[in-house]
Amino acid sequence: MTGELLDSYPAQRHSLLRILQAVQQTEGHLSEEALAAVARHLKISAAEVYGVATFYNQFRFIPYGKHHVVACLGTACHAMGGQLILDAFERELDVKAGGITGDHEWSLDRVGCIGCCTKAPVVVINDVIHARMTPFKVEEVLAVLGFKKSKKEENAGAGASQ
Ligand code: FES
Repeated sequence: MTGELLDSYPAQRHSLLRILQAVQQTEGHLSEEALAAVARHLKISAAEVYGVATFYNQFRFIPYGKHHVVACLGTACHAMGGQLILDAFERELDVKAGGITGDHEWSLDRVGCIGCCTKAPVVVINDVIHARMTPFKVEEVLAVLGFKKSKKEENAGAGASQ
């Protein structure tokens, strides 16, 4: 994070929220280093900065993967099996919602309604809406986008089916 960004805000506590928003807009998430730098700039504790950042659900603390998957669990999508779809993505990617794969290729999030309930259940991947998803479509959609399971996972899957 550039000092320029911080220097463009007064070093006063009331700037905290606007600074956090600016950092997230610039970097895509709030890293530990960024939170510490904000604390130093405002001369407040890192714990206070972290406390404010975690209070608002607009902030993200891990980076996005090259591919970002968002599973909708709003009312309509949830009623149409959205949780099963999220479970399938978690299983396939081997990452929990809110996480990112070790190679930083894939990140996964859950969200409330994204405004296209008539297409429920819905998943958004790299800003593209995938309508009427099913758990069975998950593997197919990921394969089209180039997702490959690691050899270890493939072998574990083969062993489980014997
Ligand atoms: S509940 Fe998922 S799009 Fe509305």
